[in-house]
Amino acid sequence: MPDMRERVIIALDAPTRDQALRMVEAVGDDGVFYKVGLELYIAAGDAVLEDLRAMGKKVFLDLKLFDIPNTVQGAAASVARKGVALATVHALGGAAMMQAARRGADQAGGEVKLLGVTILTSLDEETLRTELHIPRSIPFLVPDLAQRARASGLDGVVASGLELPLLREHFGDDFLIVTPGIRPAGGDVADQKRVLTPREAFARGASYIVVGRPVTGAPDP
Ligand code: C5P
Repeated sequence: MPDMRERVIIALDAPTRDQALRMVEAVGDDGVFYKVGLELYIAAGDAVLEDLRAMGKKVFLDLKLFDIPNTVQGAAASVARKGVALATVHALGGAAMMQAARRGADQAGGEVKLLGVTILTSLDEETLRTELHIPRSIPFLVPDLAQRARASGLDGVVASGLELPLLREHFGDDFLIVTPGIRPAGGDVADQKRVLTPREAFARGASYIVVGRPVTGAPDP
């Protein structure tokens, strides 16, 4: 397992390359791993990845791929060629799609670890049932989709603190679990509902934690 600083992934949720770079500079040497999501990647593209690489940072490219297997295979190959450390695909895209992502990344070479996103925490059981016609509980769906992700060759999943202990128990140490929704003890939770402190998340088995606003929005990041 990498040292503790490398297990904290800072979410660079910014609308422009300039703002993102200011955040990285404000965090300084303690920030070694950054998550670039759709907002920043669509706005700033590869330039921001190159900036981070030039500063010696690791990158989690969180684009949550979800399309037909052939398209995802190509997209995962393109992601792998960018030299990022972590990337995401939606487990709800199905086993064939996740296997295609694995093939694409492997064919492109590179070191990228692929993570499955199981059920977005913004979806509750009522929405799953009435809008998506998935009449199953979240405690059933998350481990089931994580199992399919693993069987499809993915390296791990993104999971909230709530599912973390169960997933760690079920999958053992050889599976990455990346956990967002992290707040310092006594901190402002903002719009996050199920929060853990960094210490709690690591104690429950997180491989990595994702921290956004508590760092990037702090007076001294
Ligand atoms: O600012 P905050 O610490 O809440 O940011 C957490 C990051 O993790 C954001 O980029 C958010 O989109 C992401 N995330 C999350 N909850 C999930 C999945 C991803 O907060 N279930």
